[in-house]
Amino acid sequence: MKVLLAGGAGYIGSHTAIEIAKLGHDIVIADDFSNSKPEAINRVRTIIGKDFPFYELDIADKEKLRALFEAEKPEAVIHFAGYKAVGESVAKPIAYYRNNLDTTLTLLEVMKEYDCHNLIFSSSATVYGAPDEVPIKETAVVGRCTNPYGWTKYMIEVILDGAAFADKELSVVLLRYFNPVGAHESGLIGEDPQGIPNNLMPFISQVAIGKRECLSVFGNDYDTKDGTGVRDYIHVVDLANGHACALNYAAAHKGIEVFNLGTSIGYSVLDMVKAFEEANGVKVPYKIVDRRPGDIAECYADATKSRELLGWKANKTLVDMCRDSWNWQSKNPNGYDA
Ligand code: UD1
Repeated sequence: MKVLLAGGAGYIGSHTAIEIAKLGHDIVIADDFSNSKPEAINRVRTIIGKDFPFYELDIADKEKLRALFEAEKPEAVIHFAGYKAVGESVAKPIAYYRNNLDTTLTLLEVMKEYDCHNLIFSSSATVYGAPDEVPIKETAVVGRCTNPYGWTKYMIEVILDGAAFADKELSVVLLRYFNPVGAHESGLIGEDPQGIPNNLMPFISQVAIGKRECLSVFGNDYDTKDGTGVRDYIHVVDLANGHACALNYAAAHKGIEVFNLGTSIGYSVLDMVKAFEEANGVKVPYKIVDRRPGDIAECYADATKSRELLGWKANKTLVDMCRDSWNWQSKNPNGYDA
């Protein structure tokens, strides 16, 4: 299948490009580099060992997107094109709503014009907010988000639900990611956060390499096994493979379906620190500080539906996640910048 990866130069898009190209799909990437680097595209080409079309454009730019569809005629789209920093979304809500909704609406309009009927959307476990119970099933209550970033994911799910209801040719798969970590085993691509990382794994890696002095553990008084927050960390290559399964599913079905992509295992912050130290033979100094506003105690997936309907499950271990994160960080201390 010919697949457009909208926002495909970013962390999850670049890993997905490799996994689906490996399966024989033809890929096209479009990205405006608003939160990614051209070097990521070069490295994806190196790993795949083959060229593919790349378009530098804003997905919300309808004329440019039309020109891409005219030239490439993609049969499916994987939509990663959105802003994703929680804290920034609180400071700049309008920019988040404008960008994340505009890219989606423009994609839907142009896909319709060009008879492209398969759409995979990068959603997030953030739509569950503070869950009533764990593990979280896809049927859990959604729409209790605590920040504009999360609301954009929820709103886009609602938009896509309406679009699939109205257009019986459309096939939509919503993928709710848990906590993606790790990197491609080559160490050529990985997560390249701008400025101070918000998320745990990049922060741990930057402490280990000496870029940051100490990890702040946000609270040790949660109702969890050691008092620190528990999350479902999933290797980004497993996550990427989930998109390959979703493409097959979308091609074989109509309507809309939602799947959790997680391992179903919850690890605490201190589990992660210990595993990272042991896997890589490094030290990660940490201190306990106050809880981070908006954080929840526990969040991990029930991934039964993905296993049964998508034929997907996560295979990589916590050691793989820690080793591959460190491999990327140590080979690229400044990310994609030389
Ligand atoms: C966060 C977002 C979520 C988003 C996801 C993307 C919030 C409230 N949620 O999830 O909406 O989809 O990122 O990856 O921001 N931690 C520390 N010290 C740190 C960083 C994190 O102790 O320096 C802890 C957190 O308190 C949490 C765990 O590590 O218990 C994971 O945090 P993080 O990586 O930021 O992910 P989430 O908060 O789960």
